[in-house]
Amino acid sequence: MNKNTAGRWSLDLKKVTGQLILAVSTAVLGSVQFGYNTGVINAPQKVIEGFINYTWIQRYDESVDPSMLTTIWSLAVAIFSVGGMCGSFSVGLFVNRFGRRNSMLMINVLAFIGAALMGFSKLASSFEMLILGRFIIGIYCGLTTGFVPMYVGEISPTALRGALGTLHQLGIVIGILIAQIFGLESIMGGESLWPLLLGFIFLPALLQCIALPFCPKSPRFLLINKNEESKAKNVLKKLRGTTDVSNDLQEMKEESRQMMREKKVTIPELFRSPMYRQPIIIAIVLQLSQQLSGINAIFYYSTSIFEKAGVEKPVYATIGSGVVNTAFTVVSLFVVERAGRRTLHLIGLAGMAICAILMTIALVLLDQLTWMSYISIIAIFGFVAFFEVGPGPIPWFIVAELFSQGPRPAAIAVSGLCNWTANFLVGMCFQYVELLCGPYVFIIFTVLLVLFFVFTYFKVPETKGRTFDEIASGFRQGAGVNSPEKHSPEELNSLGADSQV
Ligand code: GLC
Repeated sequence: MNKNTAGRWSLDLKKVTGQLILAVSTAVLGSVQFGYNTGVINAPQKVIEGFINYTWIQRYDESVDPSMLTTIWSLAVAIFSVGGMCGSFSVGLFVNRFGRRNSMLMINVLAFIGAALMGFSKLASSFEMLILGRFIIGIYCGLTTGFVPMYVGEISPTALRGALGTLHQLGIVIGILIAQIFGLESIMGGESLWPLLLGFIFLPALLQCIALPFCPKSPRFLLINKNEESKAKNVLKKLRGTTDVSNDLQEMKEESRQMMREKKVTIPELFRSPMYRQPIIIAIVLQLSQQLSGINAIFYYSTSIFEKAGVEKPVYATIGSGVVNTAFTVVSLFVVERAGRRTLHLIGLAGMAICAILMTIALVLLDQLTWMSYISIIAIFGFVAFFEVGPGPIPWFIVAELFSQGPRPAAIAVSGLCNWTANFLVGMCFQYVELLCGPYVFIIFTVLLVLFFVFTYFKVPETKGRTFDEIASGFRQGAGVNSPEKHSPEELNSLGADSQV
């Protein structure tokens, strides 16, 4: 489908081939891992704290001091995002050297190590193993949040890039939901089975290891980075389910030609060059808008937020938010190619801001009106729903769209690092800020949401239905850059790796 017709259809299902489904669903197993590990630590908190205490007594013959326990627990929770920061920033070290698919395959080693460390921590009476395991799976997740959108973006036909890109987020939210359900005490969140709950991640890793060798390599990587045209062509034929792939090839060659003329891209160069400055700022701000919207205040602490809002069965309300989360990601999947990225992001941010205000009103009035607890549930569900309409899925895949093949890995690394850092900050600070601000805590997110809305309105272009090359040349023209210096393919192949610091 060309760019003129793309906008008229919600989803062009004729373009969805068996190979494409296999490749995308195998890749998003990595996204499921990310979601699972985000959500898994919430429900069994009390039980695992009991284990830490028990280990402490075994070692030192006394109970662990409550403040020490809080420190150990916070470390176990937050070190995941520290791992994510390290992983996301290292994306470029892998993808240009080993390719997108092989990088996804290789890093499963980290998932197995993480699973073993966490799964056997109880047996070994070592909470250190638990913390180390969280760090290692965090690195895996940081890498995966770069690899999956990049691979999916590069194998998708232009008209389906947004919808398939949203599958990364769908994988994440399904992972969160599975973790919330498995984490119930009656399933795996109890005293004896929690190690299995944490070690369970070896299963998606195993599945991915079995299926990935059957998935195609990224045709863009083969053609643009490796200069292997016939291989790229074969892969494209299978992915598109047709022998005529000349349009796709033509477009990639155009991108490749353009790249030859681009200057070598390092991370500082992303900010210095007028050609990349605009898209990298957009990429970073969009990633920040995702995390600083406050979404993970809900996903890390929803149970206690619901408790404070007077909800009777907070754990079930938490699972309810996971269900709403998943349902609205599916909505976004079906409308993103019609409504466009920019519009959905704006609708999402505005809706979240309104829900955050509603939530504040509900929390403030809770003492006078007990039925306000229902309003707070509606507000949180609405907040989550609007998040998934735009700010959830879009920032992850739009970064791959905003850059051409050369600067893409470096840009994904930088913006991914910003996302994970903001994730870490919200996770670490929310409870303290809540202590300071009480029921007004969500006002902070409201202000940020309004600022992100204004930025998106004025600065973010629509990328729907445009090829990577068209998007990049839009920025080039905007920056007044037309014929940059020439560079060799060898230099271009080392772009992402060299751009790491
Ligand atoms: C996004 C965020 C992640 C969050 C999730 C919630 O993927 O990156 O941090 O937990 O959405 O659905």
